[in-house]
Amino acid sequence: MATALYPGTFDPVTNGHLDILQRASRVFERVVVSASEASHKTCAFSLEERLSLLRTVAGQLPNVEVMPFKGLVVECARQVGAGIIVRGLRQTTDFDYEFAMATMNTRLAPDIETLFLVASSQYHYLSSSLVREIAALGGDISQFVPPEVEDAIISKLK
Ligand code: COA
Repeated sequence: MATALYPGTFDPVTNGHLDILQRASRVFERVVVSASEASHKTCAFSLEERLSLLRTVAGQLPNVEVMPFKGLVVECARQVGAGIIVRGLRQTTDFDYEFAMATMNTRLAPDIETLFLVASSQYHYLSSSLVREIAALGGDISQFVPPEVEDAIISKLK
């Protein structure tokens, strides 16, 4: 199981996502972080913008690759040769949603496992939409996102 897939919407990537990504990159030989086209939600950033920010902030990790995906996450895992899907768990409220996704993904692809990493405690209440909301209301988001992402959010708001 040398390759893991870390899928998400990343609208935009935050320090909480990077926490999971960095830790996954220490466990697996290769981690593919894949931004969903996200037909299930309306995004603030385009897919290209989300990918570009991911490449900027995750580019220094030697065993991490960034790519887009559309369709089923298990198909994406197969395409990149990943036997593991990595997801972060922040709070108990994540559990039901993640449990449902992991269960359905196992039904679709029994050979692909979902592995959960517990988010570091400072990120338990972090989410992309909360960061965007804080920025929109003039709050300081520098502790939540890398500088390049902070700049992109502020530019988006202008
Ligand atoms: N740190 C900070 N925030 C985190 C986080 C972490 N470690 N983990 C999740 N989040 C936040 C995100 O910022 C996002 O916040 P927002 O809603 O405020 O913007 C929220 O949690 C959801 O995160 P995300 O990981 O992007 O999940 P998602 O529900 O948007 O998408 C997919 C998950 C893309 C993996 C899922 O929809 C999918 O697999 N889609 C493909 C279609 C498919 O296969 N469907 C069948 C699945 S059974």
